[in-house]
Amino acid sequence: MPDAAVPLKTKGLGQTRRTDAWWTQPAAIFVALVAFIIYATWAAFQNGHYRAPAGVEDPPYISPFYAPDLTTIIPGWTWSPAFLILWIPAGFRLTCYFCRRCYYRGLLADPPGCAVGEPRGTGYRGETGFWAFNNLHRYFLYFALILVCFHWIDVWHALHWQGRLGIGVGSVVIAADAFCLTMYVFSCHALRHLVGGNLDAFSTAPAGSLRLSLWRFITRLNEHHGLWFWISLFMVGLADVYVRCVSMGLIRDLNTWGIG
Ligand code: FES
Repeated sequence: MPDAAVPLKTKGLGQTRRTDAWWTQPAAIFVALVAFIIYATWAAFQNGHYRAPAGVEDPPYISPFYAPDLTTIIPGWTWSPAFLILWIPAGFRLTCYFCRRCYYRGLLADPPGCAVGEPRGTGYRGETGFWAFNNLHRYFLYFALILVCFHWIDVWHALHWQGRLGIGVGSVVIAADAFCLTMYVFSCHALRHLVGGNLDAFSTAPAGSLRLSLWRFITRLNEHHGLWFWISLFMVGLADVYVRCVSMGLIRDLNTWGIG
């Protein structure tokens, strides 16, 4: 046990008097974030196999990396449709309070952990200068709320093919992704502030009792915001992998329409 009277932190990257395996968390974050960034970038550049099953008219499944497909309203667009939409979830996650903690620790080692030495010695200026872009989070939240609506529309499409109600494994995967994204967005710190955190008193605010109920609900979700961040990140990747594999014919989707 280190002496409590001696500061745990010492100078130099990774230097510390901590005796626990403090490096496991930043190492796990590094692996997870880098793996996701590499896969998402690769998938976004593919510009194909984002609808499934292949070979049917108006297929019911679309990868969340490409949804909503804005090329339907921008017909001249020839690059990957993912680039029209991915800036919203990318910006939302990049500026997320929890995600910042993750990449400050796991990618930038700034610092890698509590009471652990970092590359920069002095001169900490907080999230000013370049990092001030993180203040855009509340604006990305507005776009993310719209994106959640489109993801539920995609769930509706994933339950219909050529006017016939049905269900497949892909419908479940896409619904699970929409649910996890909803939980992630609705547990957002900025949304909690928007709904009630900026008030002095609910009793005197317009729609005060409704906002209090909403604020309480979001507060409960907010306690697990980090968990929803990771689950939704995993699910969006899994949904893309599933749709892509079905579209490429690598796996067969089990569904009530008998397609794929
Ligand atoms: Fe994480 Fe808003 S704080 S999404």
